[in-house]
Amino acid sequence: MSGEILRVDNLWKSYSETPVLRGVSFEVLRGEVKVIMGPSGSGKSTLLRCINLLVRPDKGRISLEGKEVFPKPYDSIHRIRQKIGFVFQSYNLFLHMTVLDNVRVGLIKVKKLSKEEATKRAMEALRIVGIGPELWNKYPAQLSGGQQQRVAIARAIAMEPTIMLMDEPTSALDPELVGEVLNVIRDLAKQKMTMLIVTHELDFALEVADEIMVLDGGKIVERGKPSEILNNPKHPRTRRFIERLRRRVEHGHR
Ligand SMILES: Nc1ncnc2c1ncn2[C@@H]1O[C@H](COP(=O)(O)OP(=O)(O)OP(=O)(O)O)[C@@H](O)[C@H]1O
Ligand SMILES: [Mg+2]
Repeated sequence: MSGEILRVDNLWKSYSETPVLRGVSFEVLRGEVKVIMGPSGSGKSTLLRCINLLVRPDKGRISLEGKEVFPKPYDSIHRIRQKIGFVFQSYNLFLHMTVLDNVRVGLIKVKKLSKEEATKRAMEALRIVGIGPELWNKYPAQLSGGQQQRVAIARAIAMEPTIMLMDEPTSALDPELVGEVLNVIRDLAKQKMTMLIVTHELDFALEVADEIMVLDGGKIVERGKPSEILNNPKHPRTRRFIERLRRRVEHGHR
């Protein structure tokens, strides 16, 4: 089997005549981590939502493990979506459910595992993200932002997705909580989880990304090795954007 997990070909999307994605193409191979950066409004979230089939593109092609998912899905969208883990900026946990229930509900309801099997797998996933048993019966509101986001990551990995999409997973966190979440994602990268991550954490991207793609105005304006993109960007807009990010880090903002 080829190593290609995700392929996006010439993807276009407009909202009421305003183009948001203008011919985006790239691929993610098995075990790779690709990072997307770009200014606000450049289409990063829209791109991830198209891949997760939450938003319908106007044109282009998306395939997962060599099988077409847009425009002609090879299977039901519901089943295809189970192969794609999604972690949002805001943790999106079920507030009325305990930590453990948040992670196992999908395994029981969607994957149809027995309660025992689901519980076992949920506990494993929680251990992977460093959420110990003392937190399993707590509710999201009783957890810090970093803990909540780690539970959200556990919920996604428990479903054993083919690829994980993460949309600014640390940007809603207080600065002192960013590290614990990045460490979890770093571990997943070491375990060769295939991931497509929107993030502006420069040091993290430099360390874990196989490639950085810079989106601007709905197009990939530059892509390459993290060291090239971050230290020697070619495109003037990329250069300005990276400089802005660096200034933000120096001033302690995120
Ligand atoms: N559902 C929608 N309806 C109309 N316009 C939308 C919708 N979703 C996004 N847009 C517009 O599409 C453009 C791209 O939005 P998107 O959220 O993809 O950008 P982004 O790169 O993720 O930005 P940010 O860094 O602020 O998260 C923006 O101009 C936004 O206003
Ligand atoms: Mg966004």
